[in-house]
Amino acid sequence: MLTRRPPLGWNSWNTFGENISEDLIRETADAMVSTGLRDAGYEYVVIDDCWSLRRRGADGKITPDPKKFPSGMRALADYIHARGLKFGMYSDAGTKTCAGYPGSFEHEFTDAETFAEWGVDYLKYDFCNKPYLQNGPILYNRMAMALKSTGRDIVLSACNWGSDNVERWIRSHGAGIYRSTGDIWDSFVSIRDIARSQMDKIAYSGPGCYNDMDMLVCGMYSRGNVGGGERGGCTDLEYRTHFALWCLYQSPLMIGCDIRNLNEATLSLLKNRELLAIDQDEEARPPIFFCGNSESNVVGMFKHLSGGEYAFAFVNYSDRDAGLSCELFDIGLSSQAGYGFALRDIFTGEESGPFSDYFNVPRLAPHDIRVYRAKLVKM
Ligand code: GLA
Repeated sequence: MLTRRPPLGWNSWNTFGENISEDLIRETADAMVSTGLRDAGYEYVVIDDCWSLRRRGADGKITPDPKKFPSGMRALADYIHARGLKFGMYSDAGTKTCAGYPGSFEHEFTDAETFAEWGVDYLKYDFCNKPYLQNGPILYNRMAMALKSTGRDIVLSACNWGSDNVERWIRSHGAGIYRSTGDIWDSFVSIRDIARSQMDKIAYSGPGCYNDMDMLVCGMYSRGNVGGGERGGCTDLEYRTHFALWCLYQSPLMIGCDIRNLNEATLSLLKNRELLAIDQDEEARPPIFFCGNSESNVVGMFKHLSGGEYAFAFVNYSDRDAGLSCELFDIGLSSQAGYGFALRDIFTGEESGPFSDYFNVPRLAPHDIRVYRAKLVKM
């Protein structure tokens, strides 16, 4: 299925891990609507690992855990669809999922049929417990064909954590998005490491197959399943930088916090129209990294947008205040051109410029980001 834009939604893993149930999924679907997240563009409600029994049924099919999902998956899909949302599920290319539940290895076509019967619209497909001599690309291609053979539009969301040079082959093997990184945890170190790791991979991302930088940790504040506790958690400023980076890279945006209990800061960040417009920009051009210091502690990026516009962003990954002076010649604008960039800060609305030869970025606090929308105007 063609993913024209990066998919947006919610996934159970980051906060809930194995503590999932149909009540949680229903309440989450309701919250998607009541919070306005659905109307802001978030569409998929995705159940991650741990939804089934530990063994397949006598019919060879994966059986939902009746304690967690007593009404079954079809009823849950109907509930989700009735709210104008789409339903995502999870399986694994190996013999078992990462948490030890049945994987789809050598059951791919049966499982795809089961998912289609249930009304599934999106399948996250993990990579744990792959038999040693099996070839990863073949297994992803097999599931892509199995899903297609059902006749139902189902996004294949590949998840092999960026291994095996996946960016080189995954588009040709049928996935609609693919994890281009290891797992995120709820800490600025993890956010920074993922963002930096994409700098030489992001050119592979685009309509049809987007790089997936993993689910969002915005609003988790160290609660939940991915690196909570003392070493985890971020400030609102750090969550804003995280969200802005994922949008500038046009990653899928899968909310990972508990949306039944959102505070105002998180909700307004997740609904930030300017950032969502960048994430969903139809030209889907990756940023150019044109300015920064050699350790990539401070990075400047420039991005073509549709509608004749551009974006600039400057991020401070370091733990100290930082400034940056960027030569616009490094993106091709010479001072003789007679044109300059007029900027508007998307967080404050402040306008500046036009700038034609260099741009002095105002000082950035540690872990802060500035994002501008830009137009090229005659001087
Ligand atoms: C892997 C994936 C995670 C999550 C877990 C579930 O680690 O990368 O996103 O799905 O498995 O067990």
